[in-house]
Amino acid sequence: MIQDVENSLNAAPSLLVIFGGSGDLARRKLIPAMYNLYLDGLLPEGFAILGLGRKQMTHELFRALLREAAGKFSRQMIVEDKWTTFEKSIHYISGEIEKRQLYDDIAVFSKKLGGECNRLFYLAIPPTSYSPACRGLCQAGLVSAKDDSPTSRVIVEKPIGHDLSSAKAINAVIADVFHESQIYRIDHYLGKETVQNLLVFRFANSIFEPLWNHHHIDHIQITAAEEDGVGTRASYYDGAGALRDMVQNHILQLLCLVAMEPPWSLDADVVRDARLEVLRSLRPIVGEEGVKQYTVRAQYGPATVHGEEVPGYRREASIPADSTTETFVAIKAFVDNWRWAGVPFYLRTGKRMKKRTTEIAVQFKAVPEVLFNANKDRPLDANLLVLRIQPEEGFSLRMVSKRPGSKVRVVPVDMDFQYNQAYGGVSPEAYERLLLDIMIGDATLFMRRDAVEAAWSWVTDILTGWQKQATKWLPEYPAGSWGPIEADRLVEHYDRKWRDT
Ligand code: BG6
Repeated sequence: MIQDVENSLNAAPSLLVIFGGSGDLARRKLIPAMYNLYLDGLLPEGFAILGLGRKQMTHELFRALLREAAGKFSRQMIVEDKWTTFEKSIHYISGEIEKRQLYDDIAVFSKKLGGECNRLFYLAIPPTSYSPACRGLCQAGLVSAKDDSPTSRVIVEKPIGHDLSSAKAINAVIADVFHESQIYRIDHYLGKETVQNLLVFRFANSIFEPLWNHHHIDHIQITAAEEDGVGTRASYYDGAGALRDMVQNHILQLLCLVAMEPPWSLDADVVRDARLEVLRSLRPIVGEEGVKQYTVRAQYGPATVHGEEVPGYRREASIPADSTTETFVAIKAFVDNWRWAGVPFYLRTGKRMKKRTTEIAVQFKAVPEVLFNANKDRPLDANLLVLRIQPEEGFSLRMVSKRPGSKVRVVPVDMDFQYNQAYGGVSPEAYERLLLDIMIGDATLFMRRDAVEAAWSWVTDILTGWQKQATKWLPEYPAGSWGPIEADRLVEHYDRKWRDT
């Protein structure tokens, strides 16, 4: 029987105001997502999109720009007559974030739409502009009180700071104007279908939960590998590195979903409390000794990948030749609570790795060394559950079975489930789900302030430990590989190694 757990599709009439309306995020993600929601009939009756930017532009030019972007980045093909109707709801205002005029213009526009519309402010701008933007909105009377209807909400993206204190400062600036219940901090991994499925997988099946603890699980590996290099984002990336760019947010959120206790309801704050508990139980990695023992960082070096010469990180355009920014990080983490006592969580992420894959691999404990596992030189493969987040979304369970024949030969076999085979088609993009949830007012898949700060607190200890190491050069791994040899040593144990996925 198909069970609808929520009846969430009734978004109220909404005005989406995008600061940075013609920027990369709006063109690649936000507008294509809104268009797909529209095609799927999920947008509310009354909706409008207002792009803001410095450049002078007519509505028509703005729409044409977005039409071109949607053609490139939309999940579903552009259907001309549908687009023509959709684009009538798109508008543009130019102005300076620091100047009052912009906010007066937004207020006039919003009044024209009628008073019954929720106002959603998407800050697709650098965090340094959050303060004037929030203040401007507030002074122009565009921010409603927390329980008012229609309501106002604000949406922000990473980077929310570069360490704990800067994250706190950014959160404080937003909290000056918006109540926490009105703030939607996006971690786009939480919007991915496969990531949402983690909760269902764990708590809608009875067979895994009894095994989901230190009695039965040997260790867990979380990998987020990318084939691409730093690309055109050199200036941002060199100031960030893999730990801030991927671990502080996406990887820790995956860890939370795998390790959290069952929440007692699906209420946004109950689920978010359960995720937060995991972050608070993470064992701190402190000082030079701590980072030496539990972390590995490295940079990609030059190599030939798929027949092409690829430069090393320090030879990439706009990257300083003496940069010590990590493009790869591996961490051995522990969640120090009753359930996970002693179970290592191996986390790794990097650019220019062997292939693009994000997965969570749960390795169960080996069977006793008797019967089929009696030969110490040839141990049996342990059971392994792999949750593939992307690509080839799905999961597989490795078991051991007898190969047919008169000899007893025991071999591993995989039971495999693939989303596209089971359900067909392409799953909605993360931003589609997230934008819909913002319109509905469901904050489950968003980061609460305390969680962002708890994640930063753990990550900042590691950053401080690295700073103390004062390393001049990081180890290198060849582009197109699984990372440096040092990362292998982090997991070395008689029956543990990184998965060659
Ligand atoms: C972003 C990072 O948050 O996530 C990028 O800034 C990274 O560096 C990207 O490439 C990965 O996202 P996805 O959805 O492609 O796995």
